Amino acid sequence: MKILVTGGLGFIGSHTVVELQNSGYEVVIIDDLSNASIEVLEGITSITGQQPIFVKLDLKEKQEVRAFFKKHHDICGAIHFAASKAVGESVGNPLMYYENNINTLVYVLQELKKLESSNFIFSSSCTVYGQADVMPITEKAPIKPAESPYGNTKKIGEDIIRDTCMVSPDFKAIALRYFNPIGAHDSAAIGELPIGVPQNLVPFITQTGIGMREELSVFGNDYPTPDGTCIRDYIHVVDLAKAHVIALQRLLNGENDSNYEVFNLGTGTGSSVLEVIESFERVSNQKLNYKVVERRKGDVISAYADTTKANTVLGWKAESSLDDAMKSAWKWQNTLN
Ligand code: WQD
Repeated sequence: MKILVTGGLGFIGSHTVVELQNSGYEVVIIDDLSNASIEVLEGITSITGQQPIFVKLDLKEKQEVRAFFKKHHDICGAIHFAASKAVGESVGNPLMYYENNINTLVYVLQELKKLESSNFIFSSSCTVYGQADVMPITEKAPIKPAESPYGNTKKIGEDIIRDTCMVSPDFKAIALRYFNPIGAHDSAAIGELPIGVPQNLVPFITQTGIGMREELSVFGNDYPTPDGTCIRDYIHVVDLAKAHVIALQRLLNGENDSNYEVFNLGTGTGSSVLEVIESFERVSNQKLNYKVVERRKGDVISAYADTTKANTVLGWKAESSLDDAMKSAWKWQNTLN
């Protein structure tokens, strides 16, 4: 079975391609290389022994998307990662985010709907919950007004898919709301490749640990949490990737309860920034250089998943601990330098 993975050379996309190939699927990757490097294709191939079909394509070009689907009309399903994802950047450049994250989703959906079997997995984010009122967060938690254009594109994306499924009963979709993906494949052949100064915590920690960065700035320790720093649910990217294959199989096997389903993907455990730093110090056996500075605008205090639905309905559970994920991130950083 041929599966399309858009953004398949990105961080989560590449790890998902590996798990799809490990499960026997033929994979076609579309990536515009705006936030990924072609070397990732080599990394994937070195792990699985099969080179996925790769098509460099800008999904904002509607005619090119149409031509792609004409050629690859035997696609059985699609996992859609392609999107810009830097929260801060989206605040400064909203129109780029709406064009790149929304138009592309619409063009892919329009073409997928024309195919015989359309099974669609959407890369969503816990960011749609904003600061949830109750922890852990279930899929029933209210969707709050987005704190950034990036977060809004995830919310709007889910609305677009839900409305499409509403009028097309034979179009099946699952939205996966990620918490905080971290780590890298054990082979260290693929991992997170932040371009420029990392926005996210773990790559900034490992770059500081390796000496690329002077010190980590901890964005505030005056939050109403046990140690004053923000709490998140850090999930190993390979656990996350495996969940995508399981979700896709659910649709391919017609096991879905409705033609639009949503699942939170996290470990169910919250970790503070200081606990993540301690995890790094344990796995690297070295002290991390950091200082506490003022809060970062838009940060929620706490977000960690209630994983009951994914565990019971999807039959998936994260297996790796924070230290496992941190160890893989550190190993990956050491291969980069
Ligand atoms: C985690 C914690 C920071 C960097 C965002 C998006 C989410 C997803 C993941 C794309 C926070 C603190 C961070 C630093 C710090 N993105 N921190 N110093 O903000 O939870 O989620 O990235 O899909 O949608 O919203 O992740 O890693 O940026 O921050 O203290 O240098 O680490 O304040 O508490 P976040 P993050």
